[in-house]
Amino acid sequence: MDASLIKTVNKLQDAFSTVGVQNPVDLPQIVVIGSQSSGKSSVLENIVGRDFLPRGTGIVTRRPLVLQLINRPSQNVKTDAKADAKADAKDGETEIPNTRESININDEPDEWGEFLHIPGVKFSDFNKIREEIVKETESKTGKNAGISPSPINLRVFSPYVLTLTLVDLPGLTKVPVGDQPKDIEKQIKDMILKYITKPNAIILAVTAANTDLANSDGLKLAREVDPEGSRTIGVLTKIDLMDQGTDVVDILAGRIIPLRLGYVPVVNRGQKDIENRKAINVALENERQFFENHPSYKSKAQYCGTPFLARKLNMILMHHIRNTLPEIKSKIQVVLQKYQAELQSLGDPLDDGNNHANIVLNIITEFCTEFRTIVDGSSNELSTF
Ligand code: GDP
Ligand code: NA
Ligand code: MG
Repeated sequence: MDASLIKTVNKLQDAFSTVGVQNPVDLPQIVVIGSQSSGKSSVLENIVGRDFLPRGTGIVTRRPLVLQLINRPSQNVKTDAKADAKADAKDGETEIPNTRESININDEPDEWGEFLHIPGVKFSDFNKIREEIVKETESKTGKNAGISPSPINLRVFSPYVLTLTLVDLPGLTKVPVGDQPKDIEKQIKDMILKYITKPNAIILAVTAANTDLANSDGLKLAREVDPEGSRTIGVLTKIDLMDQGTDVVDILAGRIIPLRLGYVPVVNRGQKDIENRKAINVALENERQFFENHPSYKSKAQYCGTPFLARKLNMILMHHIRNTLPEIKSKIQVVLQKYQAELQSLGDPLDDGNNHANIVLNIITEFCTEFRTIVDGSSNELSTF
C-alpha cells in the first residue's frame, strides 16, 4: 500500500483519537471474486506483499477469509543510520517506514497475525499463518473439497499496511466434487453476494486471461450488484499463459466488455513457483520484466502489473475519503469550537506553552492542510490503457 496514504490515514486516526472523536473514515472492504483457480488468492497476496495464503490448483480457499490489516507503528529501534538521522531531525515525530528493510534489534516482531479462533496467540511466522488457515479450513469442512460460509478471521498487525479489510473467497464453480453439496454453485454465489452487496465493498473481479472474458463468472456477479461499475476493477491474471501472438490489449482498451474503472493485467506465481517457494519480491520483479519486455505491453508497462493495481486501489480509497471530507470537516469544526471555548475560559493561551488544547488544535489544523494536499494531488492518476 502507498506509504503516503498510510501516513495520512494514520495521522487522521491519531488526531481523532487525541480529541476523543470516533474516526469518521470508514474504509472500504476489498473483496476478490472469480472462478475457481483464476488466481484470486494470488492477487490478494501480491497486494499485501506477504506470503501467507493457501494457493494452488483445485478448490483451495473453501471458507471466506476476512483479513483485517491493522497499521501499528514499529516498536523497534532501527539500525538504519539514515532512519535514525531522519527521526532526530523530526524531533520524535513518529515516522512510518516505507520498506521492510530496517533490521530489528528487539525481540518484538514488527508484523504478526492473530486469529479470532485462537485469541492472544501471535503468529510472526507467516508460513505458520498459512498452515493454520489450512488446518482451520479442514476443521469445518473436512479434507474432501467441502465448503463452509463460516469465515476465518485473521488480523495482521504491521507498520507497512493501511488499516483495511480484505476478503478472500472460494471460487465460483458449477459441478460438485468430493463432499460438496449438489447446489454448490448457489451456495458459493450466496456466500460471495453477502460480501459484495455492501456498497462499501470494492470488487476485484478476477478473470484468467487464458479463458473467455464473456464467460467470466466474476464479472457477471459483479454486474449484478454494481451495474454502474463504480466499484468493480477487472483483474486479468495468467497473462504469461496466453497463446503466443494473443494478448489482452482489446480488453484493456475497453473494446470487449468496458468497465468504468478499467482492467489491470497481472502475472502471479505459477504452480511450479509455489512448489519451488519463489519469494514474493522475486515474483514481482519477474512480473515487471514480463510487461516491460512484452511487445504488446511494453509501451504501456506502467499500466500493467501488481504495483499499478495497488495504485488504482489507493486512488479509489482516496476518492472514498474525499467523499467523506465534508463530514470530517464538520466533525473537526465541532471539536475546534469546543476547544476554543475552553481556551477562552482558561484565559490567555500564551500564558501556558504546554496548553493541551493548543497542541490538539495544531495537530488538527496541520492535518487538514496536509490531507487536502494529498487528496487533491492524487486526483489525476487514474489513467486508461
Ligand atoms: P484461486 O483459486 O482463484 O484463489 O487461485 P490461486 O491463487 O489459488 O491460483 C490457482 C493456480 O493458478 C495456482 O496454481 C497458481 O500458481 C496459478 N496462478 C495464479 N495466477 C497465475 C498467473 O498469473 N500466472 C500463472 N502462470 N499461474 C497463476
Ligand atoms: Na485454487
Ligand atoms: Mg483461493
